[in-house]
Amino acid sequence: MTDRLLLGPSNSVTVFDNFSSGETGFLHHIPRSERFQLIMGDLLDSKLLQQSIGGHDIVFHFASNPNIARGAEDPTLDLQQSVVATHNVLEAMRHTGVRKLVFLSGSGVYGDVGGKPTDEDFGPLLPVSMYGAGKLGAEAFISAFAQMFEIRSYIFRPANIVGARQTHGVAFDFIKQLSAHPAHLEVLGDGRQSKSYLHVDDLLDAIFFVLAMVEERVNVYNVATQDAIEVAWIARAVIETMGLSDVQINYAGGSKGWPGDVPVVRLNTDKIRRFGWTPKYDSSQAMKLAITQMLDRLRQGTAQQEAR
Ligand SMILES: NC(=O)c1ccc[n+]([C@@H]2O[C@H](COP(=O)([O-])OP(=O)(O)OC[C@H]3O[C@@H](n4cnc5c(N)ncnc54)[C@H](O)[C@@H]3O)[C@@H](O)[C@H]2O)c1
Repeated sequence: MTDRLLLGPSNSVTVFDNFSSGETGFLHHIPRSERFQLIMGDLLDSKLLQQSIGGHDIVFHFASNPNIARGAEDPTLDLQQSVVATHNVLEAMRHTGVRKLVFLSGSGVYGDVGGKPTDEDFGPLLPVSMYGAGKLGAEAFISAFAQMFEIRSYIFRPANIVGARQTHGVAFDFIKQLSAHPAHLEVLGDGRQSKSYLHVDDLLDAIFFVLAMVEERVNVYNVATQDAIEVAWIARAVIETMGLSDVQINYAGGSKGWPGDVPVVRLNTDKIRRFGWTPKYDSSQAMKLAITQMLDRLRQGTAQQEAR
């Protein structure tokens, strides 16, 4: 997002991140200047957040706990990292007069509806994970702040996002495992979990598309490809792209990958498509591209380490 925003010659960007899951290295190529500022901070530090947000036209709030399974071990994690963190962002915006927010929510708000396609008006919204509950709680506060304090908000509920700079996710996990043990792969669940995978470039296109097109007080959009792929397919794609053979794949069994997982997700994207947005890549293309990009990044990292 930072790279994309800085393409606009008159844009200035401040990144506020505690780097709990992101990497500072993703920003090393951007020279510090009047147009780019990096603040290492935590969204739970409301004072620093307020100091940092003032003076901006728009906030892109993309931070959250990335690990859905961790909600089972620590049920307050998503309350803090999703609901409280988002409330802090909204409060900082209210106090400093920033009036536009883009928030990345997720399909977790819909709960497990057995693969039924969910449009943005689907209900009741009954999350089955702390992560989903956290996103729904965050959305609720965004809506209330939007109505009460005139903060225009854009809530996106994307499919699984893939790309070069992933630090988690199914393909990232498979690459990590196979880099360490090239003959063996552990797969959570039965491999038949089936979801849409969206390349990050398509997500960014969707965000800017909606920002340019709609101006309701609260705007909610699903963003996904129209197809879906299974985890077993992803395992084969990673093995093939890494040039491996004779890999023993061990499926842990059960339909879900972890407690709170929704094994079959189908997002209805008619609303955003009616405006003319369509992704460049379907799920299999997005996944293959992301696998190649992640492997390139790993190779570059290894090459840099060897050169030191
Ligand atoms: N990755 C997906 O498949 C997916 C799907 C749907 C929605 N989302 C949502 O999109 C957003 C981005 O996801 P991602 O996969 O790029 O995650 P990510 O972990 O790569 O990015 C989130 C960033 O927020 C930072 N962060 C986390 N907690 C913070 C805190 N308390 N204070 C300051 N910074 C903090 C992390 O260091 C990281 O740089 C998240 O809100 C996520 O829930 C992701």
